[in-house]
This record gives sequence, structure tokens and C-alpha cells, in this order.
Amino acid sequence: MKYHVTLKPSDTVIQVDARETILQAALNAGRTLPYSCRSGTCGTCLGEVLQGRVAYPDNQRPTAISETQMQSGKALFCQARPLSDLIIKVREIDAVADLKVRTLPCRVMGLQRLAPDVMQINLRLPNHEQLPFLAGQYIDFLLRDSRRRSFSLANPPHASQHLELHVRHIPGGVFSDFAFNKLKEQAILRLQGPLGTFFVRHDNQRPIIMVGGGTGFAPLKAMVEDLFHHGIERPIHLYWGARARRDLYLHELPLRWAKQQPLFEYTPVLSAPADEDGWNGRSGWVHEAVAADYPDLSGHEVYMSGPPPMIEAAKTAFQAQGLALEHLYYDAFAPASD
Ligand code: FES
Repeated sequence: MKYHVTLKPSDTVIQVDARETILQAALNAGRTLPYSCRSGTCGTCLGEVLQGRVAYPDNQRPTAISETQMQSGKALFCQARPLSDLIIKVREIDAVADLKVRTLPCRVMGLQRLAPDVMQINLRLPNHEQLPFLAGQYIDFLLRDSRRRSFSLANPPHASQHLELHVRHIPGGVFSDFAFNKLKEQAILRLQGPLGTFFVRHDNQRPIIMVGGGTGFAPLKAMVEDLFHHGIERPIHLYWGARARRDLYLHELPLRWAKQQPLFEYTPVLSAPADEDGWNGRSGWVHEAVAADYPDLSGHEVYMSGPPPMIEAAKTAFQAQGLALEHLYYDAFAPASD
């Protein structure tokens, strides 16, 4: 059974099968709605149902939408399926519409421990293949049994024959256990991408604040290097939150950027510095450091990536300090679901 779904404000009409998510049908039809986790946990795809009814798998409310939001007509389009024709309100994104999602083999060219639980994986695409993407997007590794695991690209697009990932070891994690214990150089993997709608918007000149938690540094690194590459002159203040000094696994890099780039500022924040760290920098939660430094965020644009609790806490705190939702972009590193 197929339904007509009208996207507002563009008035585009797409066909959506009753068993298909609205997000997937829109992507298949060449329309890009905001999305990140595609598992109902990050909230990036939240929109509004103006007319009609939707349902969620097993009639279970996904974690990223509240009962109140559902009652007020909000819906998570990465999970919602139509129960009738619909009119929905979404923020369509043109910038990634021309970037074709491709499935490609890739070869592992390097494996480097950046911290005890962080591995940098360097990949090379086959000769003559390119993967055009926007800095901040991610790829999925396609694993056996139709499983997939998502990782942000840490390199900027101008070097897109080589791809760089920062993989955190999650004990028991399907891919990260494999990457830390079995993966060897020269191995061939299969990836799909580019995915996601986390990238820097260039339709304004607002100063940028970036907030990364742990390996959430990876897409921000790609964004910063891309902004430098294009000589874009917007002030950037990068906050990198981690537990202890060893978890700031590329600390020297943003320190170097700060020396070389007059408009770039870097503030590392540790939540649990080790005694041996001798840390005399900022301590506490990274979003609290941002909130303390910028009591008025109404003129800024914020890009965040990291664990969902960091994103949730920061969203609430930053909006309370004047940040408009349309200037807040994030990529929550939600746990993978199979
Ligand atoms: S909740 Fe839908 S993309 Fe994350």
C-alpha cells in the first residue's frame, strides 16, 4: 500500500510504501531531510505531521521523541511509517542532494593507535574512484548479516581518495572489537556513503562554535580543515571534551591550528583528569565550559558531535542562552542497532 506524502514548504509529493520510513522514501526520491543515526535515538530527523497519521515499529515510541512532542504532532521521520496520506513539515537540505550515495570496496592502508581505545584507520578507494562528500558526513561499513556500523570521516573532502576514521573501542562492539583485534593492513572492506546531513552551512557569517566529545572530534577535524582549505574567514572556537589527557588523542593538532590561524581558538576540557596529567586547563563538562564562556549565544552557530548525553545537555543549555535551533547542528554518536 502506498501513500502520498507532501513535503512542506516545498510542496514536493513523494510516494511512501506503508512498510517504508518516510526518510528512506524521501532519500530514494532524491529529497534530503535532516538525519544522522537512522535509529530513532538522535532526534536530528524530527519534523511535524500537519495532516495524517504515522506509526512506529511495534508501536513503540522511539527514544528521541517525547510523549508531549508526539501529541503536538512532531514525528521522527527515520522511524515513522505512514498510515494515511500525509502533509509534513521538514527542513529539506539541498547541499547534499547532488552527492550520490555509493557502495564501494576500500583497502585498509594504515592502522594507528591514537589512544589506548582509539584507532585511526586509513582507507584507500580503488584507483579512479572518488567519494565526493561534505566535511562532517559519515560512512557505513557494510558487515556480514546485513549489519552496518557508522563512522564519521575525519579528513576533508579535497583528499577524498584516502579516507580517515577515528574508531573508539567499545568492548563487545561488532566492528570495533574486530578493528582492534583482527583487522590488518591491506584488508578489503565495503563501505557506503556519504551519509548524514552534518556539515557547515555557508549561508551566513556567524562565528562558529564547535563542541566535540571523545571521537566526536573526527567530523569537526574534517570541517575545520575544510574551512581552512577554502580560506573561509569565520571565527571558529573548538571545544574538545574528554575524560583525561590521553583521550585528547590529537591534542597537538588543534594547538597547532590555534598558532597558525588567527581566527581559530581551541579549548580542551577534561571531565576526569588523571593525577599524572598535571592538568591545569579547563575541567568539568565541555558544554558547561561553552555556556560559561558564551552567556549569549544568540549570534553564534554551533556544531556538536559526540555521545548523546553530551548533545542533549548541550542542546538544553545552549537554547537557554539564546541559541536558535536553526543554528544548532549536531551528530550524536548513538549506539549502533542491528
Ligand atoms: S532519530 Fe532519526 S536520524 Fe536520528
